[in-house]
Amino acid sequence: MSQETWDAVDDYLAATLVKADAVLEQALAASQAAGLPAISVSPPQGKFLHLLARVQGARNILEIGTLGGYSAIWLARALPPGAGRLVTLEVEPKHAEVARANLARAGFAHVAQVRLGRAVDSLAELEREGAGPFDFVFIDADKPSNPDYFAWALKLTRRGAVIVVDNVVRGGEVADASSTNAAVQGVRRLNAMIAAEPRVSATAIQTVGVKGYDGFAVALVVS
Ligand code: SAH
Ligand code: DHB
Ligand code: MG
Repeated sequence: MSQETWDAVDDYLAATLVKADAVLEQALAASQAAGLPAISVSPPQGKFLHLLARVQGARNILEIGTLGGYSAIWLARALPPGAGRLVTLEVEPKHAEVARANLARAGFAHVAQVRLGRAVDSLAELEREGAGPFDFVFIDADKPSNPDYFAWALKLTRRGAVIVVDNVVRGGEVADASSTNAAVQGVRRLNAMIAAEPRVSATAIQTVGVKGYDGFAVALVVS
């Protein structure tokens, strides 16, 4: 199996099942035009997140790592019409600005809040404000901080909430305990933490597609 095959299948799935629309395509185009890195979730992955949030019945969604707001649009579309909100955290001013414009064009100016700053600071702020509990959290920022973000996600959620973490396989490197890659070690520490955490039931799923070989961790808050 090659990247070429994964790309072709992702294109096929996007064309048949996902039917990405003009708003999402424009969000990607605006992100690219502004020079943002092309590391958003893929269209099938975006819809996967959207469906998970809908299955959960999420009304209060938290995202850590906004980039241009592509995954945020998919998640905001999972909220019940006219109800619910999404808070998404971003440290780069340019990313936040592009995301705000993309979310506004998608019709979510008053539903989605892009908070600028280091995620750990914004998370502490959200706690002080009593912004939780969140029903659904998507963690997709700097990978070495994954254990901190997961701890915050647990603090800011309730029983029944779902926590999803992106990029937990990293081309298979996650299985290499001796990896010197800080992102890989972040994921391994995250997994050790999840394994020792009685409040969640979790798994991880490997994925291939236009983003290469990677994966998602999914945790259900059970108590
Ligand atoms: N979820 C997005 C992709 C996010 S890429 C999507 O799928 O569309 C990761 C983002 O996390 C980048 O925009 C990066 O600037 C941001 N980021 C990195 N470190 C961060 C930090 N410490 N606090 C908040 N955001 C951070
Ligand atoms: C990178 C970050 C991501 O969140 C992702 O999905 C893919 C790549 C990166 O930093 O390279
Ligand atoms: Mg990612």
